Amino acid sequence: MPKESLTITDNRTGKQYELPVSNGAIRAMDLRQIKSGPDDFGLLAYDPGFFNTAACNSKITYIDGDKGILEYRGYPIEQLAERSTFLEVAWLLINGELPNKKQLDAWVTDVTMHTMVHENIKKFLEGFRYDAHPMGILAGTVSALSTFYPDAADIFNSRSREIQICRLIAKMPTLSAMSYRHSVGMPYALPDNQLSYTENFLNMLWKVTEVTYKPNPILAKALDMLFILHADHEQNCSTTAMRCVGSSQVDPFSAVAAAAVALHGPLHGGANEAVLKMLAQIGSKENVPAFIKEVKSGKDLLMGFGHRVYKNYDPRATIIKRMAEQVFDVTGRNPLLDIALELERIALQDDYFVSRKLYPNVDFYSGLIYQAMGFPPSMFTVLFAIPRTAGWVAQWLELLEDKEQKIARPRQIYLGPKRRDYVPAERRA
Ligand code: ACO
Repeated sequence: MPKESLTITDNRTGKQYELPVSNGAIRAMDLRQIKSGPDDFGLLAYDPGFFNTAACNSKITYIDGDKGILEYRGYPIEQLAERSTFLEVAWLLINGELPNKKQLDAWVTDVTMHTMVHENIKKFLEGFRYDAHPMGILAGTVSALSTFYPDAADIFNSRSREIQICRLIAKMPTLSAMSYRHSVGMPYALPDNQLSYTENFLNMLWKVTEVTYKPNPILAKALDMLFILHADHEQNCSTTAMRCVGSSQVDPFSAVAAAAVALHGPLHGGANEAVLKMLAQIGSKENVPAFIKEVKSGKDLLMGFGHRVYKNYDPRATIIKRMAEQVFDVTGRNPLLDIALELERIALQDDYFVSRKLYPNVDFYSGLIYQAMGFPPSMFTVLFAIPRTAGWVAQWLELLEDKEQKIARPRQIYLGPKRRDYVPAERRA
């Protein structure tokens, strides 16, 4: 049996150290004993962007980026997308197992019964400018929920955690729809308990004067599938924000607000909005080669391509690309699709992209579908935040139950000036 350890020789001192290896990792704290002299703080691992640092043990989501595999709690994403529903997947992520029929029914009922939000939320929505980005409104209002539910601060009470999680999953679509309707100046639509999770979301978005809104079942199903695909993705930027902020033991509404803000950035959840802008700028299939040339010269990024973890086709992109056809059968074909297909065709043959293992990610096609369904680009990150809330709260629960976790507080390597004395302004050069 090979020994599960790593022997390090410090060439500065000639000393040798043996560090245990567990689950393919050494403990960064074991490096601390490696010192060049008595005043040395101890060796640090320098890892900007956390390329090679595991900050937790997790049993939620498994990704093999080289093989293009994504699993939630061991279930392949392809099977869940085809056979499950978003609420069932949310339960799976949060509780670790698929629910039995009774548990599922109770969970769906609980979520359905908690979709309403306090009337006062409407009042402070009025304070947002008419053109406020819906994601800013969503992050602000979900954070404000902590003031409506002060019991959420009781994070070590498992029953309280269950209640807050149900509230979050139930109210995210309501707040999201309200943020949209505010931006278009429409009155807010009440939730309809007769509808499924995604049907109800569509109802709160699009209902106008009809007594009962009838969502298109194909679009509701497609949205449900998109929600499944976006529900979790292990330690990405927003989930890391959720864990970091959650590690301060703040309530989950505040931590979800922080995660939502992280998701908003164009290198993360904002990428599909950026993809559409890019496709519109390219304008036509004929302009694709010139654009690819710009990207290769470093002037532009091919948005929706590349991923920190996937060095193969993102499995979610494969499912979304297939689903696009079903949606376009209902909505009509998005004219930008041809530009996207041409970009993909050329990029996948080009050595620049092949050698860097840059493939379409989840955002490359999702924006096209959302646009065809009638969502403005400003809603795309909101559509991501709703399902990702399930992943955020699952990761938050895991964090709270992990005895090894502490408040997140990375180290730095200080390279600034050495101690110096203050000089009054009039004597400064
Ligand atoms: N277009 C052109 N070149 C790219 C792209 C791209 N989309 N992505 C990476 N590269 C190049 C980089 O310039 C770099 O080239 P170099 O080695 O010559 O310097 C190389 O590929 C490696 O890229 P990094 O930026 O080091 O990879 P990193 O893991 O840090 O970045 C990221 C991953 C942020 C996703 C990046 O690929 C990117 O910016 N993509 C476009 C934005 C995007 O689609 N984001 C959505 C990600 S999915 C999600 O968050 C849900």
